[in-house]
Amino acid sequence: MSAPEELRSEMPPQKQIEIRALHTVAEFEACVELQKAVWGFGDADLVPVRMFVVAHKIGGQIFGAFDAAAPDGVIGYALALPGDRHGHLYLHSHMLAVAAEYRNTGVGRQLKLRQRDDALRRGIELMEWTFDPLEIKNAYFNLERLGAITRRYVPNQYGITSSHLHAGLPTDRLVAEWWMNARRVHAALAGGGPAPDQVTERVVVPAAVAAWKTAGDPRAEAVQSQNREALQQAFARGLTVLGYEKTADGGGAFRLGRWDEAFSYGPPPADEPARPQPIS
Ligand SMILES: CC(C)(COP(=O)(O)OP(=O)(O)OC[C@H]1O[C@@H](n2cnc3c(N)ncnc32)[C@H](O)[C@@H]1OP(=O)(O)O)[C@@H](O)C(=O)NCCC(=O)NCCS
Repeated sequence: MSAPEELRSEMPPQKQIEIRALHTVAEFEACVELQKAVWGFGDADLVPVRMFVVAHKIGGQIFGAFDAAAPDGVIGYALALPGDRHGHLYLHSHMLAVAAEYRNTGVGRQLKLRQRDDALRRGIELMEWTFDPLEIKNAYFNLERLGAITRRYVPNQYGITSSHLHAGLPTDRLVAEWWMNARRVHAALAGGGPAPDQVTERVVVPAAVAAWKTAGDPRAEAVQSQNREALQQAFARGLTVLGYEKTADGGGAFRLGRWDEAFSYGPPPADEPARPQPIS
């Protein structure tokens, strides 16, 4: 089967990337090896092979990315589990990883597009995942390149982990909601970025935050606390993150406003802050 147009246009000129569904224990072992390289998790935080097996058996998704020039090695993967929200089947995409040497060439986007294609074929319209609000690239990728929105903030979701990516900070997470048939998603995937929205507020993430995290500089945690407060307050007032700006110095800013599409499966899980009804 040839790749759809939107996938082919993402392929880098030198590398032919193939995305395929993974089924075997050997393939899952390769994903776990890549996971170790990407996150550097210790044993207690590592998502093990047996969880990949379970995801495969219960209607989740495991897609792998392969370089046609070296087809035996997994160079990226996406792992999702099925979920139920008030009687609606949806997917929770728990991990997306691309080997460092293949990043920023569209592999991550191809994996997400394959997940979406598979989900929509199965009649599933919502995929969720969480991301660190301090990670500028991930926020841009999720909100601008994929067209996800976010309106839920979970402080310290996983506790303090062993991953070097988390740098010993509380694992605060934003929940990305990817309503895969939303107007904004179609617009983002068509390449022009999400459709313009009524943006009323911004929450800024300074470019230096990545260096502060790596260096254990307390300014990283200060930004985290300040932005936690700002985003939680904005969400409580009925605002939604509708986009993400990159600033000229490498920083970013969440763009908040009222979302004019009505996608919802009802209240989030009980341990997440309740979102009040939007104020009209
Ligand atoms: C997140 C991740 C999966 C993305 O994969 P990828 O293959 O690099 O993604 P893509 O190439 O499809 O897209 C990345 C986009 O971010 C942009 N980008 C790269 N660095 C950036 C930065 N510092 N700030 C803002 N945007 C940035 C790229 O230019 C690209 O956008 P473009 O297509 O408009 O040029 C990959 O970086 C990764 O494995 N990270 C470590 C694990 C992780 O954080 N997983 C995700 C948890 S939500």
